Amino acid sequence: MKDFKDKVMFLTGAAHGFGRVIAQEAARRGMKLALLDIDEPALKETAATLGDAAVLVLPTDVTQEAAINAAIARTMQEFGQIDVLINDAGIALPGRMWELPVRDWEWILHVNAMSQVYTMRKIIPIMLKQKTHAAILNVASIAGLVDTPGMPAYHASKFASVGLTEATAYDLQRIGADIQMHVMCPGFVQTDLYHTESHRPAQYTDASDPYYQSEAFLKGQQFAKYVITNGTPIDTIAATVFKALEDDTFYILTHPEYNGLIADRVDRIVHNGKPDVHVMDGIM
Ligand SMILES: NC(=O)c1ccc[n+]([C@@H]2O[C@H](COP(=O)([O-])OP(=O)(O)OC[C@H]3O[C@@H](n4cnc5c(N)ncnc54)[C@H](O)[C@@H]3O)[C@@H](O)[C@H]2O)c1
Repeated sequence: MKDFKDKVMFLTGAAHGFGRVIAQEAARRGMKLALLDIDEPALKETAATLGDAAVLVLPTDVTQEAAINAAIARTMQEFGQIDVLINDAGIALPGRMWELPVRDWEWILHVNAMSQVYTMRKIIPIMLKQKTHAAILNVASIAGLVDTPGMPAYHASKFASVGLTEATAYDLQRIGADIQMHVMCPGFVQTDLYHTESHRPAQYTDASDPYYQSEAFLKGQQFAKYVITNGTPIDTIAATVFKALEDDTFYILTHPEYNGLIADRVDRIVHNGKPDVHVMDGIM
């Protein structure tokens, strides 16, 4: 996709971090924007930075299929088309597999993976019907290509996002669809991702569960804050996204220092190896 002017972008997670800078670059390129996020005040702040771009502010909890469907319907009513779908909304929940409450597993799988299912299930048929060139970019993570200790739920959700995007790309190719697909797999970047707890919807809240006062929970919070605040600056993310859209790059990798880990994982798979936590020494 080379020309973005007057095209419509449907973007989840637009209130903070990657979503906000992607919205700003899209507006600069003359796109019309449907912006979704659970954090309504911050979503309005994003919209306020977009000058005179045509913007729909759609406060939405992306774990709710009906809410996403309503946002899609509103976008079609306002703009009449959707050319670029970016599934960026995401949360990070550290914690060991057996310690993290099931409600947290369900929460992260819904935000990071099921929301991408909900949007694509509805928007792909819209794009096919339009018969114009379209693009879908799912934000996964390097955590969707390699595993590390300490955050199995995040990995499960991001592996789901990668697999979902790859498998959808095959099916779209089979039917000759004019939709370019992308999966973004960044390493750590300085954003608000360690503020996940402030986006916890009521349906995934149970303050009476002692887990949320436990040392395991507090350590997980510190871990998330440490890795995100020590990530790389966000300044190149929007340019990277638009370059990938222009060049039709499927796997969008932002941290080449992790490429060796991807190769190492594949090597273990095909050579009868197994996960070895010592590979992570000095990394995590
Ligand atoms: N920052 C990193 O190091 C990093 C690395 C790899 C991948 N990612 C991924 O990038 C994406 C963007 O994250 P970010 O780093 O910009 O973090 P961020 O917290 O700054 O932005 C995430 C956005 O998602 C929104 N969100 C959370 N739950 C929601 C819900 N239920 N409904 C609607 N919106 C919701 C948040 O309000 C926030 O605006 C995520 O998918 C994240 O997993 C981030």
